[in-house]
Amino acid sequence: MLKIKKIINKKNKSNIVCLTAYSKNVALILDSHCDIILVGDSLGSVLYNFRSTKKVTLEMMINHASSVKLGVKRSTLVVDMPYNTYRNSKEALKNAKLIMKKTKCDAVKLEGGKKIIHIIKTLVKNKIPVMGHLGILPQTDKKFTFKGKKILERHKILQDAIALQDAGVFSIVLECTEKNLSKTITKNIKIPTVGIGASVNCDGQVLVTDDLLGLNVEKYKFVKKYSNFNKIINKAVKRFKTEVLKKKFPTNKHSFTA
Ligand code: KIV
Repeated sequence: MLKIKKIINKKNKSNIVCLTAYSKNVALILDSHCDIILVGDSLGSVLYNFRSTKKVTLEMMINHASSVKLGVKRSTLVVDMPYNTYRNSKEALKNAKLIMKKTKCDAVKLEGGKKIIHIIKTLVKNKIPVMGHLGILPQTDKKFTFKGKKILERHKILQDAIALQDAGVFSIVLECTEKNLSKTITKNIKIPTVGIGASVNCDGQVLVTDDLLGLNVEKYKFVKKYSNFNKIINKAVKRFKTEVLKKKFPTNKHSFTA
């Protein structure tokens, strides 16, 4: 709970840094830089080539989060509850408890607003910290276009954010909400917003680590590639291949002699 309080206390003081991780080695690197490490169900598309996150299972999330936990000491570890694992309060509580117990994470994240408020209230009442997620909801949305073009939609998302806050979530991810809508939401709630494609008008930012590193070749408007790992890995693997073919690797240095 201390870690969760620290995240809430960052509101209006310091921006929140959040990245995704799906395995230990990446988590080990992120841990000293991030406030929140998210085991996102984006792993469905990033690792498994799924067209939608609907196919991600509870078992997948638990296995990846357990690996990530091995690399996390100081960050707050949040795990996505996958599609169809929180259709009602009873199911949500059973599955959230399982995720918390098996992965030793600090919180779970659920997609949706007023529709799932009763579920969120049940989790919070049972001392399970919850992060909300509004804007584009990849588990259920059909279209992945930015949110907040129309007044009615803006109003609904703002009301959803207030409802999530009142239900006790400690923070809300805003995915691809229009810049001024992000500002209005961030100003009108007391808990921090963490944006992805939601402009600078949030209390923090999250990106999918594979996108930021340039491992993923897909291009998205809201992603800045801070490195080109695709190129870096290609170069290293090409050198390895050449040295194997030319019998330059392994040398004596990498061999055992009696
Ligand atoms: O699944 C995920 O990685 C996410 C982030 C994009 C916020 O929910």
